[in-house]
Amino acid sequence: MKIGVLAGGGDAPGLNAALKAVVMKSSEYDWEIIGIKRGWAGLLDCDVQVLNPDIVKHIHSEGGIILYTSRTNPFAIENGPQKIIKNIEKLGLNALVAMGGEDTLSVAQKLYEMGVSVVGIPKTIDNDLSGTDYTIGFDTAVSIATDAIDRLRTTAESHQRVIIVEVMGRNTGWIALFAGLAGGAHMILIPEVPYSLSEIYEILKKRQSEGEVYSIIVVSEGASPIDMKNAIIRSKQKDEFGHMRLGGISQVLERIIEEKTGFETRAVTLGHTQRSGAPTACDRVLAARLGVKAVDLIKEGKFGMMSSLQGNNIVSVPLKEAIARRKTVSLELYNLAQSFLK
Ligand code: F6P
Repeated sequence: MKIGVLAGGGDAPGLNAALKAVVMKSSEYDWEIIGIKRGWAGLLDCDVQVLNPDIVKHIHSEGGIILYTSRTNPFAIENGPQKIIKNIEKLGLNALVAMGGEDTLSVAQKLYEMGVSVVGIPKTIDNDLSGTDYTIGFDTAVSIATDAIDRLRTTAESHQRVIIVEVMGRNTGWIALFAGLAGGAHMILIPEVPYSLSEIYEILKKRQSEGEVYSIIVVSEGASPIDMKNAIIRSKQKDEFGHMRLGGISQVLERIIEEKTGFETRAVTLGHTQRSGAPTACDRVLAARLGVKAVDLIKEGKFGMMSSLQGNNIVSVPLKEAIARRKTVSLELYNLAQSFLK
């Protein structure tokens, strides 16, 4: 057997640990492993690297992905899918492991429908993929954001300021909710729960009247207030999967809050630090479990499936189900966090 493995979309800490698991488990069956460089782009131009246990034995603690990644969408390129299928044959690959989020796995699903033997591994710091409780990289992003909130608390208090911490997450508030809850933020603003600017002013004024000298607001990059005509985005230019670049909401809120309340306010955008550096132990373990399961799926001939975490069990779900709808934060979880914010 010859297996191809790739990672697509934004990188996520833990991807290397998943790759190591795929290579190590495959080597138990004496399968050949071909690493495909730069996600789907590497299958369009046959940019590959032979992998073996010696190459991957120490990569579990490294962030990023040694194969590189890209946001290339073969379905947005003329004859892209056909080229990929031809190159899979040319490389002699019997099966493919695609590590990715909604975008990468939607390509995997379409290729599966065209006859490619592919399985998926869920990764994205956003944790917005259905069919799995958690995705690789989320725990690390939350840990980094929580650490940042813990640190920002001291300067916020010393200067009696409002600090707005902007986190990633695209159109879901998983990182904001988890980091805000863990970091003891005073307000958490997420795309799933509409909020107005006047609500923010009221809460800040109430806190001040209660003798609180500082406030920390965590805002998800995709959470714009309802009373703003246009959603805040960094650039209208779309990537190959149709996503605009988000970001900038904290700076907008900084200006408005200062203007309307008179409270000194500072915006802090955590940006790509959330995706960078070593994965947490939890992400490494999750990645190892999901990677081994992906190889099991190939061994059992269960293609078109994704390894996934449900409860404390590693199971599998159809790729079709995982990409069918975006996994958003439930109101129940949001309300739970609200009772914690003081
Ligand atoms: O999907 C992961 C993610 O980090 C999002 O949270 C964020 O909006 C986006 O990727 C940023 O993408 P890029 O690295 O291409 O700027």
